[in-house]
Amino acid sequence: MGTGLLELFSGIGAAGIAWGGPVVGAIDQNSHANTTYLENHDLAPRSWNLAGVTAAQLGAFSAERWWLSPPCQPFTVRGARRDLDDPRVKPLLRVLAILCELRPRVVAMENVPGFVASATRGELRAALITAGYTLDERLLCPTSLGVPMRRQRYYLVARLGQGQGHRSRFETPVPVSPTRPLSSFVDAEPDPALYLSEAVIATWGHSVNILDSEDPAAVATCFTSAYGRSPVRSGSYLRDGGGVRYFAPEEILRLLGFPDTFRFPEPLARPVRWDLAGNSLSVDAVRALRLET
Ligand SMILES: C[S@@+](CC[C@H](N)C(=O)[O-])C[C@H]1O[C@@H](n2cnc3c(N)ncnc32)[C@H](O)[C@@H]1O
Repeated sequence: MGTGLLELFSGIGAAGIAWGGPVVGAIDQNSHANTTYLENHDLAPRSWNLAGVTAAQLGAFSAERWWLSPPCQPFTVRGARRDLDDPRVKPLLRVLAILCELRPRVVAMENVPGFVASATRGELRAALITAGYTLDERLLCPTSLGVPMRRQRYYLVARLGQGQGHRSRFETPVPVSPTRPLSSFVDAEPDPALYLSEAVIATWGHSVNILDSEDPAAVATCFTSAYGRSPVRSGSYLRDGGGVRYFAPEEILRLLGFPDTFRFPEPLARPVRWDLAGNSLSVDAVRALRLET
């Protein structure tokens, strides 16, 4: 096997940015994610359904590092927490069976905190330990790294061999005061189309989280892929000199730790950009896992 990284459920490629080293392959069935990935990573993801992928297809990448960001809906309240009964868990189980056969040197995965109590995690742990991996599992939130945005997630790093005992740290990460204020992540000249009308503020203003752009202690709630579609519990809003507005997708990417050079392809509608950003990963959190290359 080579030294490359295989990004599975690759989305817009946060793991490749964070982990570094050569990315030899990416797979996702979302065409908007794939065009955005190509625009930024110089690599065209395969538009495959991972529920039907074969060992020959994944083995052909000769990657010794695999990153998995499988769908989180089977483990969320909004997704009805159907766990192993949810068909959206099938691609993860398929990939798991193949990786236990091919045994790449390092496997890492991210999901929502609800994954911790799932039967799917039990299957994942049992399969990886049987295949000879040592597991390191934890919850991590960008707020514990000084970033003014909550996004607590489950992270797994599985290394082949290294029988030093499995580690699971599921205590709630302790937030620290933002070391970079929210104001340093927001645009100086926001698009006027981001501002909410008085009628919308009157209807939803009391039930949504609105932050003051100049408050040094302001911390945004987790942005989800429903931001812009579902007014409540999908992310924070911002009050600045122009009124109350949405965060732009590009501002969310900044909070996720994406580099300033990252670009969405043109034209890509704002709701699609919100969807892709809300589905992505905290680059800062993945870096904090200290994955070796
Ligand atoms: C949580 S997102 C991952 C986001 C990614 N880590 C990023 O940086 O943007 C899950 C991704 O899995 C993809 N996906 C879901 N089911 C899939 C399947 N059966 N085959 C391939 N991709 C799938 C979705 O299109 C989505 O981009």
